[in-house]
Amino acid sequence: MSNSRRRRENRLNALSPRDWLKFQKSWFVHNPPPREKGVLTHPAKFPESLCQEFIEFFTKPGQLVLDPMAGTGSALIAAVRAGRRGVGIDLVPKYVEIARERLQAETETHRNLFEDPHGAVRMICGDARQTHKLVTEPVDYVLTSPPYWDMLRRRGFETQRRRRADQALDVWYSEDPNDVGNVEEYETFLEELVAIYRVVAEVMRPQAYATIIVKNVKKGGRMFPLAWDLGRRVGEFLRLRDEKIWCQDNQRLAPYGMGYAWVSNTMHHYCLNFRKECSAC
Ligand SMILES: C[S@@+](CC[C@H](N)C(=O)[O-])C[C@H]1O[C@@H](n2cnc3c(N)ncnc32)[C@H](O)[C@@H]1O
Repeated sequence: MSNSRRRRENRLNALSPRDWLKFQKSWFVHNPPPREKGVLTHPAKFPESLCQEFIEFFTKPGQLVLDPMAGTGSALIAAVRAGRRGVGIDLVPKYVEIARERLQAETETHRNLFEDPHGAVRMICGDARQTHKLVTEPVDYVLTSPPYWDMLRRRGFETQRRRRADQALDVWYSEDPNDVGNVEEYETFLEELVAIYRVVAEVMRPQAYATIIVKNVKKGGRMFPLAWDLGRRVGEFLRLRDEKIWCQDNQRLAPYGMGYAWVSNTMHHYCLNFRKECSAC
């Protein structure tokens, strides 16, 4: 094969050069559409439309996407819509049940995209610390977002908590001690997350990408650089390739600190893109 032919071959995805280029911008604005009724109960899900853009960039049709903390299954729903297979893990049985119901309906709608629609996607109830035991097939792409530490439990979220509690919606994920969103001490939380991503890396095939969507978090008047810490620590075993910054511009501004201190309204997340490097390939 000539050099120029090889250059033109797209080994990563099925996008046109134009769509490839569009995705290369290092920031984007994505305002999540209103949530469907069945998934309102989950306190923090990411939009399927956003997931689909990432999945279509980092995989080819038919490849396998993993979300080790899948919640109500947004990444897997997006995988099915894109004609990719999916596997998800979540600790909380209630979310796993919601995800399974949603996925059944979604695979039915998109059954023409799969040879075996029933085997296309599955949701496991379990601890992400066991990913290497729960997922046996090599994974082509990981798209995931962790609990943002114990943010849902902290001061400053009282109004949101009250509003959600009034509607009988969850205000945090669970009381399970294995839920990393219940770890109080920041360094312990970070260590536990890094340990989870280490076993997730084990199931990735060489040269597969992983995207972690995360924010820096504030507590007690101080910023804890969760996104930057994860970039550095996970970067010790998966190469940190770059970041894409997800901005939201449809959120109501709150007057935090007005008149006495600088406190921002944080309306951006980091999408950290890692790759499993392989010296032999
Ligand atoms: C930010 S949410 C993910 C939301 C998901 N991306 C969605 O769109 O629905 C984080 C999830 O991590 C789960 N989780 C927390 N600790 C876990 C653990 N040790 N193993 C598996 N899942 C865990 C929580 O139940 C929660 O659903």
